[in-house]
Amino acid sequence: MDLTIANKNTEEFSNLIKSKERNTAEGDLKIGVDLGTANIVIAVVDQNNKPIAGVIREANVVRDGIVVDYINATRIVKELKIELEKILGFKISKTATAIPPGIIEGNTKVIKNVVKAAGFEISKVVDEPTAAAIFLGINDGAVVDVGGGTTGISILRNKKVIYTTDEATGGMHMSLVIAGAYKITLEDAEIIKKDINKESENFVIIEPVVEKMASIVKKAINNYEVKKVYIVGGACTFKRFCEVFYKELKIDVIKPANPLLVTPLGIAMCSNN
Ligand SMILES: Nc1ncnc2c1ncn2[C@@H]1O[C@H](COP(=O)(O)OP(=O)(O)OP(=O)(O)O)[C@@H](O)[C@H]1O
Ligand SMILES: [Mg+2]
Repeated sequence: MDLTIANKNTEEFSNLIKSKERNTAEGDLKIGVDLGTANIVIAVVDQNNKPIAGVIREANVVRDGIVVDYINATRIVKELKIELEKILGFKISKTATAIPPGIIEGNTKVIKNVVKAAGFEISKVVDEPTAAAIFLGINDGAVVDVGGGTTGISILRNKKVIYTTDEATGGMHMSLVIAGAYKITLEDAEIIKKDINKESENFVIIEPVVEKMASIVKKAINNYEVKKVYIVGGACTFKRFCEVFYKELKIDVIKPANPLLVTPLGIAMCSNN
């Protein structure tokens, strides 16, 4: 599996978000809104799927695919849309958005309503693992999305999702064990968790959570012939994450650069203009 292009694109997208700049585009732009438990991201790619611009905001308005704070979710998406329009230099309207695997129709409707209320017209609703798989160019294997609140597993065969499950262990649980270990607040633990200088000490504390995630994945893929596992989502950022997964799964574990940005870029790629 060659992740060279995927890695180049996530690196470029990450730099665009940080610099608040835009790339030159070819053809029509495609946009994707990712309403996550920990982050809301809007990604823009061009007709060749080259990253053009992006915005991100940490937010607490969605819990595992369910909108728990409609007003603030709408406000944040609206603000991010305006921010993005300033970067692009023009107004945007059509966007794709995504739903986590296995959520019910009513919740999908609420996600669509948030995006619409923020001033977008929805071009497509895609499920998150499919978006990640499309971005990575995967036809077969398991996509594991370790997000803020959950570990979502999707098994793909011939580009189709044949099985999905979502279990409540994510980055939030890592922050909880760090908070417990240091006797600090969850907010402080969240900051310490992301401190690259504390990565080795942090990993010792959160390793049991990663082992739990790996055992969730093992159980999920048990009845399927899965040869490779692709890890995405912000909570797999730790250097030793794949090593722990490999120990449990004994199959190839592949993590792209900037795993947090994979699904948002995939959503944008899926947009029908
Ligand atoms: N550098 C980092 N080191 C460790 N954890 C990180 C890092 N960056 C982000 N995270 C964690 O990743 C999680 C967010 O990941 P992501 O943006 O993929 O989730 P989400 O899409 O908002 O959530 P979900 O998919 O569960 O709805 C948070 O728990 C955050 O603390
Ligand atoms: Mg997510």
